[in-house]
Amino acid sequence: MPQKKKRVTQQTLRRRRMTALAIIILLVIIIIYAVFSACSGGDEDAKGDSENIRTSTITSTSSDVQNPITQTTPVQTGTIMESVTGSQTSAVTTSEDDENRVQSIELTFYTCELNIGDTTMPYVTMLPDTADLTEKWESSDESIATVDYLGNITALKAGVCYVTVTSVNNPEVYAQVKVNVMDENGLVPASQPVSAVSSSVAQTVTTTITTTAVPVKNDSSEPTYIQGILIANKSYGLPADYNPGLDSETESAFNKLSEAAANQGLDIYLSSGFRSYDTQARIYESYVDSYGQASADTFSARPGYSEHQTGLAIDVNSIDDSFAGTPESEWLASHAHEYGFIIRYPKGKESITGYKYEPWHIRYLGVEKATEVYNSGLTLEEFLGIDSEYKE
Ligand code: DAL
Ligand code: ZN
Repeated sequence: MPQKKKRVTQQTLRRRRMTALAIIILLVIIIIYAVFSACSGGDEDAKGDSENIRTSTITSTSSDVQNPITQTTPVQTGTIMESVTGSQTSAVTTSEDDENRVQSIELTFYTCELNIGDTTMPYVTMLPDTADLTEKWESSDESIATVDYLGNITALKAGVCYVTVTSVNNPEVYAQVKVNVMDENGLVPASQPVSAVSSSVAQTVTTTITTTAVPVKNDSSEPTYIQGILIANKSYGLPADYNPGLDSETESAFNKLSEAAANQGLDIYLSSGFRSYDTQARIYESYVDSYGQASADTFSARPGYSEHQTGLAIDVNSIDDSFAGTPESEWLASHAHEYGFIIRYPKGKESITGYKYEPWHIRYLGVEKATEVYNSGLTLEEFLGIDSEYKE
């Protein structure tokens, strides 16, 4: 009996050892599996798993303090980053807009002297090249020089005119060539004002702008001067045939301003200067088509009411909100008056000027007057005691 009892005990012992060994092996396997799972778990989250839809809740706050976005959204595991980014649509949209909108046009030359019968053609660089680069050419006086849809300029008669290439995609961006056609004595007749013959026969590569009949009538028969300052705003229009081109004093003052900025390491360049009545009509009408007239009226002048038609206004750099807050914009706001310019449509004065803040739009008044207006802290309307409102 004692022997039997001893044998049973040894068998039990062996079985227990085997069980313990199995448990240890199992534990080791579980630990290895657990460690492996912990290491690879992050990747699994990042990749996402469309089959494994787990509802979690996130709260994100936009960094844009003007437009805080607080979002509490059920999201699918693995899409958290996408969901947060997608909620900050302003940043995403702006960069897409920048890619699709022509921002600048440069030419190989901006002035030329031709004999009657000569032909020339400036080469165009439009940026960014991701935008639709369709261009439209027109001459301010087809009796002096014509331009075809490729930009070939042909001189017909002695005189001065302006050939303009405009981006169809963004009609506020354009570039101009001053064309001087010499007579048989090699002289260019007086250039100001440029003949009023309009660009109604402009050559067009593609007509993607559909013109809408906008009820705009400008019956101003004479330009209005107040305290010696030529006024163009919603109350004071210009005759449709007022067509002076970019004022030469304004142009040279701007060149000085641009040089001074360059000395500070800043790049301030002309994006849009003189605009004829017809050019403004196309710009305005394209905005009306896109945004409706009420909205267009807050940022684009009706034809005959744009300060650009005076030849005394210049838009610099990017003609959009991206210019605000740049070092160039800050410098311009503080120094433009030293070169004779004012920021014409300041922030917070929309109800007085009639237009949204345009940090890029400067108006030439001469150094003395511009400095007076700058020091007063007033808009030109307030300074002169005038309104800016359409009558109809
Ligand atoms: N953007 C200014 C107001 C103009 O169209 O003249
Ligand atoms: Zn402007």
